[in-house]
Amino acid sequence: MRACRVGLVGAGGVAQRHARVLTGFDDVELIGVTDVAPDAAEALAGAHGARTFRDVDELLAAGPDAVYVCVPPFAHGPVEEAVIDAGVPMFVEKPVAVDLETAERVAALVERRGLLTGVGHHWRYLHVVEEARQLLADRPVRMVNGAWLDKVPPVAWWARQDRSGGPVVEQAAHVLDLVRLLVGEATEVTAYGDGAPPPVEGADIDSVTAATLRFASGAVGTLAAACVLGWKHRAGLEILADGLALSLAEDGLTICDADGERHLPADPDGARIAVDRAFVDAVRGIGDDVRVPYAEALRTQRLALAVAESARTGRAVALPTGPAARLTAAVADATPAEPTGVTIDA
Ligand SMILES: NC(=O)c1ccc[n+]([C@@H]2O[C@H](COP(=O)([O-])OP(=O)(O)OC[C@H]3O[C@@H](n4cnc5c(N)ncnc54)[C@H](O)[C@@H]3O)[C@@H](O)[C@H]2O)c1
Repeated sequence: MRACRVGLVGAGGVAQRHARVLTGFDDVELIGVTDVAPDAAEALAGAHGARTFRDVDELLAAGPDAVYVCVPPFAHGPVEEAVIDAGVPMFVEKPVAVDLETAERVAALVERRGLLTGVGHHWRYLHVVEEARQLLADRPVRMVNGAWLDKVPPVAWWARQDRSGGPVVEQAAHVLDLVRLLVGEATEVTAYGDGAPPPVEGADIDSVTAATLRFASGAVGTLAAACVLGWKHRAGLEILADGLALSLAEDGLTICDADGERHLPADPDGARIAVDRAFVDAVRGIGDDVRVPYAEALRTQRLALAVAESARTGRAVALPTGPAARLTAAVADATPAEPTGVTIDA
């Protein structure tokens, strides 16, 4: 059996995780790593007996079967364009970009090329997410309350709006992705940020954001994001349907209904392995379980950016649902009677 030859772009925290997982598969060969910080590339490549590449072009010239793009939000775009141009299947870490224009452009190129893609929304591989889906299959969701209450992660770019996109785009995107999966598409959001950065060098992001969401199904919801703590306090969502309350997080699902309360533990490490296994299987042509291809992650990116946009402008942002996947970003007058401000076509 010929190994699936994978190259990594970016050698930071998440690339180290993918390298560990991928080298644990006996049908994968990590051919090498490139990073704008050569020391980082050398450290990661050295740890796995792989080589370093000077840049993405040199990596692509080595003929990988797949490329993992593990760069910070602000660095997306040129890397993906080069990989798409080479026609190589591509796994991209979330968020897929810092803005919408980059994500829309890359998505259009992926579609035109018909390229196999996957995005690192690995929560979708938690078996408790499937459990929640089944419990909700015949019960419409009435309300969802999502939250990501945490610290500022220890990477220099995180607290800068133009580098990370802010906490909702960078972090709460995992929760918003599950909200979309379990509740459906949002049609309108309003959000407020506190306008007060966390006490971190160079920070210009909101410390806390509170959002309300309206869904095409008629459900309503909220999202809370905070990075003012010294620990990860809570990341997950509560879902209410008739006679059913679900509390879902990376470590498990609590179900409350007429039969009482029960807790199903989850396996977050298993989900982190499963997301890579599914992508490699798809690249090798022996599987079809990529749950978040680029086009699906784009929809989550639109929602996260709509929340960020509303918090920035103080206006409601509409997300019309429909088959056309194109950004219009038409800014309209917002009035109390018709609160729609910025329109992002979905
Ligand atoms: N899915 C998950 O659970 C998960 C977990 C952690 C991080 N992430 C995501 O992964 C991304 C990276 O996070 P991280 O913690 O690894 O960050 P990091 O800062 O630790 O590493 C990023 C690396 O990318 C390199 N880099 C920057 N621009 C580059 C470019 N143009 N070409 C090549 N390399 C470049 C940097 O030098 C750095 O080594 C973030 O978007 C983050 O949200 C996802």
